[in-house]
Amino acid sequence: MSGLSPVESRTGAGADSSLRARQIRRDFPILQTKVHGKPLVYLDNAATSQKPQCVLDSILDYYRQENANIHRGVHWLSQRATERFERAREVAQKFLGAERFEEVVFTSGATESINLVAQSFVKPRLKRGDEVLVSAMEHHSNIVPWQLVCEQAGARLRTIPMNDMGELEMEALPGLLTDKTRLVSVVHLSNALGTVNPVEEIIEAAHRRGIPVLIDGAQAAPHLPVDVRRLGCDFYCFSGHKIFGPTGIGVLYGRRKWLEEMPPYKGGGDMIRSVTFEKTTFSAPPSKFEAGTPNIAGAIGLGRALEYVSEIGLDWIAQYEAELLEYAESAVAALPGIQIIGRAKKKGSVVSFVVNGVHPHDVGTVLDQMGIAVRTGHHCAQPVMDFFGVPATTRASLAFYNTREDVDALVAGLKKVEEVLG
Ligand code: ALA
Repeated sequence: MSGLSPVESRTGAGADSSLRARQIRRDFPILQTKVHGKPLVYLDNAATSQKPQCVLDSILDYYRQENANIHRGVHWLSQRATERFERAREVAQKFLGAERFEEVVFTSGATESINLVAQSFVKPRLKRGDEVLVSAMEHHSNIVPWQLVCEQAGARLRTIPMNDMGELEMEALPGLLTDKTRLVSVVHLSNALGTVNPVEEIIEAAHRRGIPVLIDGAQAAPHLPVDVRRLGCDFYCFSGHKIFGPTGIGVLYGRRKWLEEMPPYKGGGDMIRSVTFEKTTFSAPPSKFEAGTPNIAGAIGLGRALEYVSEIGLDWIAQYEAELLEYAESAVAALPGIQIIGRAKKKGSVVSFVVNGVHPHDVGTVLDQMGIAVRTGHHCAQPVMDFFGVPATTRASLAFYNTREDVDALVAGLKKVEEVLG
């Protein structure tokens, strides 16, 4: 299936959501896999999501028919590859609602996007005593880059606190936005808790003080409609592999005026205007930030994944996943000896929990034997684990191809865990 509108063509308005999800599953060959002789129940979408056939086809087609380096050749293949790569940028622009395609920088993923902003945007602005503000529920990738840059400058990393439900304490925000704050960088949807943060409110409050804002959308972009112009953020980033695209590719959206001011992050080919041994001048964004041969196949696959997700529709995805999350949370919470970690009122499709007296790795191992893939551990969010006083959790994270049957399998698996280890 590599044509357009795969889903709309076979489901009409008002079609039953579960039926639609079951139809969508057929686009994902890996979901037919058996694990330990059992049908795969894939509930680790926050770590990485599966890839539809159309994305796999787009990558294979590129390598089979159009493989060449981009921006460098007058020959036909190079022109074709360049067109496909730049078309993927336009798809990403449209997907994010960015004003201009030059505001879309291809990176290797959300982590590199954040490091780029840290080193290229914040570092030149950061003086001793300045501050960068993040939230208490960040992934390590939205903590460590700021620690590195703060250490280099003698600046301080501060955090917006959260409550026991896993919601940000927004009343603390005004006091944390000061003349010293150079950037606010906040996660849109927490990978460890599922919390959807009030990013509009945070952006508005920061902008009132003239402070730019980066939103880490690695978990949000695959599950919620995102419009960077409506949000008004200065930067937004996400990773391809979590949004049904390939690994090693991601996007940094940046407002053009910032990208123009920022120095390059990495040096190399394809990002220069002229080079002599005395001096180099740089090309305009986004090329200024894309040194070397980029992940061409990755960008093409990501572009196809964004088209695919848009064809399904993020409004439908958000609504369907909200229903599935409600079903999953009530089923898991009803089991004896299980405590859900992260009970925010506004959540994305993540159910993180601990089973009394059983280490999450043992929970994960029993579930794996039943063909159920979940993530266990600290989810690269150790401060979140510390806050809740647990070393790790078991996390089931849902996508639009998951069904109530998948949740029922998880519940059966957790009953087995209780039987074997409880
Ligand atoms: N950030 C990814 C996760 O939450 C790897 O699992």
